[in-house]
Amino acid sequence: SKGKYEHYMQKEIHEQPESLTTTMRGRLIHNGSTKRKSVLLGGLKDHLKTIRRSRRIVFIGCGTSYNAALAARPILEQLSGIPVMMEIASDLLDRQAPVYRDDTIIFVSQSGETADTLNALEYALDNGALCVGITNTVGSAIARNTHCGVHINAGSEIGVASTKAYTSQIVVLAMVALAIGADTISTKQTREGIIQSLLNLPGKIREVLKLDEEMKDLARSLISEQSLLMFGRGYNYATALEGALKVKEVALMHSEGILAGEMKHGPLALVDENLPIIVIATRDQCFSKQQSVIQQLKARKGRLIVMCTEGDAAAVCGGSCPVIEVPHVVDCLQPVVNIVPLQLLLIGVSFDRTTRIQCRSTKESCKECD
Ligand code: UD1
Ligand code: BG6
Repeated sequence: SKGKYEHYMQKEIHEQPESLTTTMRGRLIHNGSTKRKSVLLGGLKDHLKTIRRSRRIVFIGCGTSYNAALAARPILEQLSGIPVMMEIASDLLDRQAPVYRDDTIIFVSQSGETADTLNALEYALDNGALCVGITNTVGSAIARNTHCGVHINAGSEIGVASTKAYTSQIVVLAMVALAIGADTISTKQTREGIIQSLLNLPGKIREVLKLDEEMKDLARSLISEQSLLMFGRGYNYATALEGALKVKEVALMHSEGILAGEMKHGPLALVDENLPIIVIATRDQCFSKQQSVIQQLKARKGRLIVMCTEGDAAAVCGGSCPVIEVPHVVDCLQPVVNIVPLQLLLIGVSFDRTTRIQCRSTKESCKECD
């Protein structure tokens, strides 16, 4: 049941410390007598050698699941050294894109039943690729028809707009990257740092959920707007796309997630003192580039809201714009933390607009949710 929450999506957002704990349960294990931990994914362990020999890894998904894969792409590239391509399921099929026997194709789907993703799976199987599923639904078509995979174990997700499945997908994909890269000595320290950060992640999410009231206040300043832009790059390009997808799908407001590196090649022309823009500028290797993006947006008198690391408010915009301060975690997990305030924000924005917070059982409307 929804318990004290107004609808399932709100409940699922607040459940994330627990759903992430379940996702990781039994998968971060002690190495013999040492205190060191490593990743054990039961569904992948017999296939890791084949995956390491792949010519490329291709992620396929739709909507939020595609965005989760995009968030995990950099760490998979870094730890595997294998080129990682992104494909939206319908687009791969429209192009009948080349797929080879020495490709590993990772299908990401919360439900495990999305028609486009399933059709792409059939296509990849016909072309002889190794097909790996990442799904939340045991017994789903994708879980059954892939060669191997990992269940994200986030618990059933009733809200149509995916929230807790998104964060669990990123965590599982980070663990997949750790498992594939586990034979590489040069990345050992990086991998250990990520494992430590995974263990601390539920606590960080609990902290960031405390921004609920602050996000409601911020939402009040946005409810009558026509449009909202989100700029991100690196690990947080996915955060910008996913934040914008949620605003469109749930708050019915126009929103675009924009790769900040592309700003000067078109989107800058849209910037004025009226259009609200969320810039994600948490501390990672792209931080200084994002600081320079903020300066350029300010020079255009852009109406900015900056998401930054705790304590960085003055550094990012000198107190001249609203900020969303979030706890710092290792780079590749920062998108898990950063999406949470945007999930809270869109609930605030959607409450005073034509709300479309649905549950999966009814699609169009639900007496319980309305
Ligand atoms: C499995 C058990 C779990 C048990 C644990 C104990 C299941 C569903 N999971 O979890 O209850 O506690 O062992 O060791 O029984 N798979 C696919 N495609 C997908 C997803 C999964 O083929 O999209 C396959 C995997 O390759 C694996 C099986 O399904 O063979 C189960 O996957 P998963 O639940 O992730 O494995 P474990 O975490 O080991
Ligand atoms: C769409 C939903 O229909 O399917 C999105 O509106 C969702 O919210 C997408 O992300 C993909 O779903 P799944 O179950 O394959 O992850």
